[in-house]
Amino acid sequence: MAMLGISPNGPGEPPIAGIIGNSPAMQQVYRITRRVAPSNASVLILGETGVGKELIASAVHRLSHRSGAPFVRVNCGALSESLLESELFGHVRGAFTGAVANRAGRFEAAQGGTIFLDEINSTTLTLQVKLLRVLQEKEFERVGDTSTFSTDVRIIAASNRDLMNEVREERFREDLYWRLNVVPVEIPPLRRRREDIPALVSFFLEHYNEINDRYVVHIAPGTLEAMQDYHWPGNVRELQNYIERAVVMSETDELTLDLLPLCVTNRDVAVGTEKPIGDMNELTREVVMKGLGEADTGEGGVHSLVVDRVEKELIVQVLSACGGVQTKAAAMLGINRNTLHKKIKDYGLDDSDNGNS
Ligand SMILES: Nc1ncnc2c1ncn2[C@@H]1O[C@H](COP(=O)(O)OP(=O)(O)OP(=O)(O)O)[C@@H](O)[C@H]1O
Ligand SMILES: [Mg+2]
Repeated sequence: MAMLGISPNGPGEPPIAGIIGNSPAMQQVYRITRRVAPSNASVLILGETGVGKELIASAVHRLSHRSGAPFVRVNCGALSESLLESELFGHVRGAFTGAVANRAGRFEAAQGGTIFLDEINSTTLTLQVKLLRVLQEKEFERVGDTSTFSTDVRIIAASNRDLMNEVREERFREDLYWRLNVVPVEIPPLRRRREDIPALVSFFLEHYNEINDRYVVHIAPGTLEAMQDYHWPGNVRELQNYIERAVVMSETDELTLDLLPLCVTNRDVAVGTEKPIGDMNELTREVVMKGLGEADTGEGGVHSLVVDRVEKELIVQVLSACGGVQTKAAAMLGINRNTLHKKIKDYGLDDSDNGNS
């Protein structure tokens, strides 16, 4: 840090246009973004869903010397492997059924500019090899073609999964990881920068007042406090959604608690807060009793008992927060949907045991 001349305690870093939040955590994000933008380095943006990864990606482009050229976003999670390959690199006529004409891909469309590979963790190992080649050799072929294109495109990638963990689990190539991760930008979840909440609320109130022709300009006592206590699993996108709803539903000029969803105002159902899950004292007592009674219980030992109990409780709460939608719950928990499904079965949370699944 000191060698780069960046002082962590230096004067506040001003926000980047269009991005709200002045917390130390966001100032660090702005600082890194401004520093990396004018270079050609690949940038890897990490953070939970809704933290603003796309916003930062487009800021990197806007603040770079490539800003006059295209910024092209590709959601790698939205397409199958073969469609994604053709989307990225293009194809020639007859390359596959339905390829009726030559078609340029997104790398060609982004020539001279920036390509933003969103949800990069969703790519298959085979496609990762091709991306690695673009990064290393700066060249590729259209699907079904032999002539090689050379490309001048800056790559920004984003992942809402811990990519290093994906590398460990052999779902993501380590060589590609290091090529992409020249400069990491980690955007912290909203619950780690609660001081940004008032500014975000004002910003979205103003925005939705304007587009809905409303005038919600006051905030009732206790409302911001409730929002600051909530853990925001969907981060800024979730907050934005609640403010839009509140503005639309409001009958006065005041943002009141009753306009916010129960999960915000009723803290009991909050998930992932730094509060202990369930009654830990009771759990500890039970575990100690079991541990004393069954010393050296091997696989069914104290540790796994605690882990199972906590995990089960967590799944119940997340499912309930997601209205029982398993895909959402899996995303929120950061686990595969099939894994979640299996755990739900293992813990007997399906069917009549639980109205949520
Ligand atoms: N700091 C911020 N200031 C203003 N708006 C923000 C901020 N962070 C996020 N938003 C808004 O929240 C929404 C979600 O942001 P964005 O799409 O960048 O998140 P993301 O990290 O890419 O999410 P996902 O992983 O789900 O794709 C967008 O409407 C964005 O404009
Ligand atoms: Mg995104």
